[in-house]
Amino acid sequence: MAEFDMVVRGGTVATAGDVVVADIGVREGRVVAIGERLNRGETEIDAAGKIVTPGGVDSHCHIDQPMADGSVMADDFASGTISAAFGGTTTVLPFACQMKGQSLRSVVEDYHRRADGKTVIDYAFHLIISDPTDQVLGQELPALIKDGYTSFKIYMTYDDMKLNDREILDVLAVARREGAMTMIHAENTDCIAWLTEQLEAAGHTEPKYHATSRPSAVEREAAHRAATLAEVADTPVLIVHVSGAEAIDQIRAAQARGVRVYAETCPQYLFLTADDLDMEGFEGAKCICSPPPRDAANQEAVWTALTTGVFHVFSSDHAPFSYADDKGKQLHGKGASFSYVPNGIPGLETRLPLLFSEGVGKGRMDLQTFVKLTATNSAWMYGLYPRKGTIAVGADADIVIWDPDREVTVTNSALHHNVDYTPYEGMKLTGWPETVISRGTIICDGGELKVDKGRGQFLQCDQPGAVRVG
Ligand code: URP
Ligand code: ZN
Ligand code: ZN
Repeated sequence: MAEFDMVVRGGTVATAGDVVVADIGVREGRVVAIGERLNRGETEIDAAGKIVTPGGVDSHCHIDQPMADGSVMADDFASGTISAAFGGTTTVLPFACQMKGQSLRSVVEDYHRRADGKTVIDYAFHLIISDPTDQVLGQELPALIKDGYTSFKIYMTYDDMKLNDREILDVLAVARREGAMTMIHAENTDCIAWLTEQLEAAGHTEPKYHATSRPSAVEREAAHRAATLAEVADTPVLIVHVSGAEAIDQIRAAQARGVRVYAETCPQYLFLTADDLDMEGFEGAKCICSPPPRDAANQEAVWTALTTGVFHVFSSDHAPFSYADDKGKQLHGKGASFSYVPNGIPGLETRLPLLFSEGVGKGRMDLQTFVKLTATNSAWMYGLYPRKGTIAVGADADIVIWDPDREVTVTNSALHHNVDYTPYEGMKLTGWPETVISRGTIICDGGELKVDKGRGQFLQCDQPGAVRVG
């Protein structure tokens, strides 16, 4: 009888703390031993010469999210999680999004129906709170937090989502009392509306004007305000999808004052610029997301903030709208103003390979930082650590074996999402996930999916690590 169900043997195993050559023994879906010359496993995987990391935790993605404007996301929980898995992600935290007037509980039930029987990897839900009524804040939200939905996103912009500062403080008070993490989309909504009106009145409606309508100052002001509200409410916040230097400066300054402001950035702020919105015809719509990508100097600021501890998580913000789709980017046709184009870009599958190749491979960050930003911190931040986000005795055996030398040219036809484009088309990357293991089961290997839909498990989140004091 083999001692282990599986042994991943002789790989260079990276965690947030260490990089060691070791064997990993797996039993009943969990890591039970890490050491040298472990006894035989029922399944033996030779990882010599390979990099072994914890499965990625993508803590910001939108999957099968109903939209108020009638647009339809291209990915459901099958294509979304399959795509994530091929890119080395073994846990996703998409959003269960409340529209105004909806009860939070019914929203959560709806998203469970959407995910049930479809996922190939494990998942938890963040909530989105757009209607903080007394009933929602007094009863539904506290009850849901107790049930394992311990984080929620709120918006400072988007007409159907935005909360004013008073409402944000009310939400933060619940987060503080109940021990939850609040994620904030930080952009100044009135500035955006005013600038959009000016641009459209002047006939400036092409996709590139999306970036003009949401300049860095709009994000800087909102990041400052988010930090101030966190300070006043005395509870941590996490500012999502931060795009560049001006917001980073605000976050760094707040952190230096001792305010618990955590921050996230995404691949689009490292690898795209506003010029990508200025493509032939309507093509720039493919890169419309909010905040918009900036410029090369801002990309550099984001790289620096990733490696100096300003950012804690690196997520995809996967928001899948196909380009040639009258429910996607062309919801209002190719002549539509930028302000009517569904926001967001796809990225579940490319998130880890992009950072591995351009971050680790190009010497911008070490492997430990890569693991921290893409798995460990996300799990810790949202109450899934140490079950997820690390390779340690007792953790779920969510493991990625990377071929660090494999050269891949990114092309949409080779990706597994249901979106008809990737903004990273043609990028040449070095390193790609070869074998992906979820709870001790090989789910992707050599480009093939090895499991059926529906094996993914829903995860109830504990109190977020960042919320616990001491
Ligand atoms: O443009 C974006 N980021 N779309 C997704 C929704 C959001 O605000 O995260
Ligand atoms: Zn957002
Ligand atoms: Zn998002």
